[in-house]
Amino acid sequence: MSEALANLLNETRQFPPPAELAAHANVTAEAYAEADADRLGFWERQAGRLAWSKQWDEVLDWSNPPFAKWFVGGQLNVAYNCLDRHVEAGRGDKVAIHWEGEPGDTRTVTYADLHKLTCQAANALTELGVTAGDRVAIYLPMIPEAAVAMLACARIGATHSVVFGGFSADALTNRIQDATAKVVITADGGYRRGKPSALKPTVDEAVANCPSVEHVLVVRRTGEDVAWSAKDHWWHETVESAPVEHTAQPFDAEHPLFILYTSGTTARPKGILHTTGGYLTQTSYTTHAVFDLKPETDVYWCTADIGWVTGHSYIVYGPLSNGATQVMYEGTPDTPHKGRFWEIVDKYKVTILYTAPTLIRTMMKWGEDIPAGYDLSSLRLLGSVGEPINPEAWIWYRQHVGGGELPIVDTWWQTETGAIMISPLPGVTAAKPGSAMTPLPGIVADVVDDQGRSVPNGGGGYLVLREPWPSMLRTIWGDDNRFIETYWSRFEGMYFAGDGAKKDDDGHIWLLGRVDDVMLVSGHNISTTEVESALVSHPSVAEAAVVGATDPTTGQAIVAFAIPRGSTDISGEAGEQLITDLRNHVAKTLGPIAKPRQIMLVPELPKTRSGKIMRRLLRDVAEHRSLGDVTTLQDSSVMELISSGMQGGK
Ligand code: WT7
Repeated sequence: MSEALANLLNETRQFPPPAELAAHANVTAEAYAEADADRLGFWERQAGRLAWSKQWDEVLDWSNPPFAKWFVGGQLNVAYNCLDRHVEAGRGDKVAIHWEGEPGDTRTVTYADLHKLTCQAANALTELGVTAGDRVAIYLPMIPEAAVAMLACARIGATHSVVFGGFSADALTNRIQDATAKVVITADGGYRRGKPSALKPTVDEAVANCPSVEHVLVVRRTGEDVAWSAKDHWWHETVESAPVEHTAQPFDAEHPLFILYTSGTTARPKGILHTTGGYLTQTSYTTHAVFDLKPETDVYWCTADIGWVTGHSYIVYGPLSNGATQVMYEGTPDTPHKGRFWEIVDKYKVTILYTAPTLIRTMMKWGEDIPAGYDLSSLRLLGSVGEPINPEAWIWYRQHVGGGELPIVDTWWQTETGAIMISPLPGVTAAKPGSAMTPLPGIVADVVDDQGRSVPNGGGGYLVLREPWPSMLRTIWGDDNRFIETYWSRFEGMYFAGDGAKKDDDGHIWLLGRVDDVMLVSGHNISTTEVESALVSHPSVAEAAVVGATDPTTGQAIVAFAIPRGSTDISGEAGEQLITDLRNHVAKTLGPIAKPRQIMLVPELPKTRSGKIMRRLLRDVAEHRSLGDVTTLQDSSVMELISSGMQGGK
């Protein structure tokens, strides 16, 4: 039995909410008390924020755990909730999406436009033989049609499976086959780093091996030549000429809404299944509560891709069900220049920005002069998701994007949880940089030890969820046993998230990375996240990744890879000196047990396409093994860069 995670990092800064925001916040501290007093009653009230065609008979049926049913007997239509009810309430002319293409072309899509397109797409899909319960794969760039395709599926009760546009033909094939999708919605291509990047050839390759696919709908985005087969239909010929009238039918609260595949780091992708009523309730409520979204005045921008759960919950379903105006951007943050994000914030007067730590650290590496060149004064709230945010990256974000005063919501959740679970409430919580703080009202999270016992404040262990929540995954598509094994077997009666976590002395929660990434050094469990944060707290480091490598004396030894900030000199002796300084800096910050055996200065880190560091590959480097599977890398040349850049190192 290994001892619980060593609790090393001691971050004491704390930032109360701005008075003005607190005074007008959508959600106040009372929400916690309300939910504590009557958890199911609380969720029932949040479900009441939506329009239901038929009221539910029971809030939660948990008679057959871990298979939950929420709002049993209730019926609603998700697309109706995201579109029709805003149009019916006279808000059809309100902008739903300010879309910005990478080359600089733009589209302004109102709720009435989005409604019309979605009705047409629903009619076109029906015409192609898609009926409720069928699966539709979506493989599109970040264009408004991606949201339309998802909403059209929801409207007719088809289950969508969005596959990120950066995935290969093999990945797409596996996902189409696993879900036996009947239709694929794609585009000729999209724009990526200044040039057209084709999608259709990848779909052609996949569809050749997917007998379930009867039709392929193709949006014309780049205008490049594409091969054409009998299964293919142009979107502009099919959808845009379809009737604009479509009446949304209500579906059961537990009707499957979508499947989204999560790869984990090694194993076969898992098709995470989300259903209708509970999912929309929690995504809608959390958008309102965590982002304090005021649909009349805010301009919201989530920089995620629609191919990830963040795009599903916080570009499509959460914001649209609340009637938000949002920005959607097609491309990369450094095309055509490194200020593109800030230019967009300035241009559309974005008020709420939701992005990922990997991006913040990249911006840190590029330097604060870049955001300083734009007017970011429209912003009033910042969010982070996807990985633990290092305290220094948090401070940098607040300082250089948030003008030194904006609240930051560090939101912990997963594809599996469907919606945000642990986060500050921006009008309530005095946030600590690097901590996701507190489970949201209605959520029961805990940190437990090896035996599943709740750890006291100050202790570390594993993050679990003790009670079912509305937007929880219902199963792994086609594999109930794997669902039980993966999430519900580690600890009796609890959902095991797979993340290490600690509670600080005030009981606030700090996420410490995936448990597979935790290092065991001389009998101590040490979190990669804490050592990385210690490195990033050094003024010369922008980003760091830490792994445990086999070591004859300590079991595992800490090996770190660090990207220096903008102008740092790392040639020859200066580099050697920096490495020595960094090792000492970590020892001083966290204690001698956490001093890395080895630090390598590198120009880049290997990341998955969703921006998470692939520590598995770095472990291969640290242990001098040949590299494992690199197919999920965002940029496959990175490992060569790292290996060659390291040669001078130790
Ligand atoms: C894993 C889930 C949630 C949408 C995007 C990722 C890590 C996510 C945080 C955070 C620390 C975080 C966890 C989690 N993670 N947000 N705020 N602090 N870690 O979804 O791809 O399913 O990944 O991302 O390790 O388990 P995902």
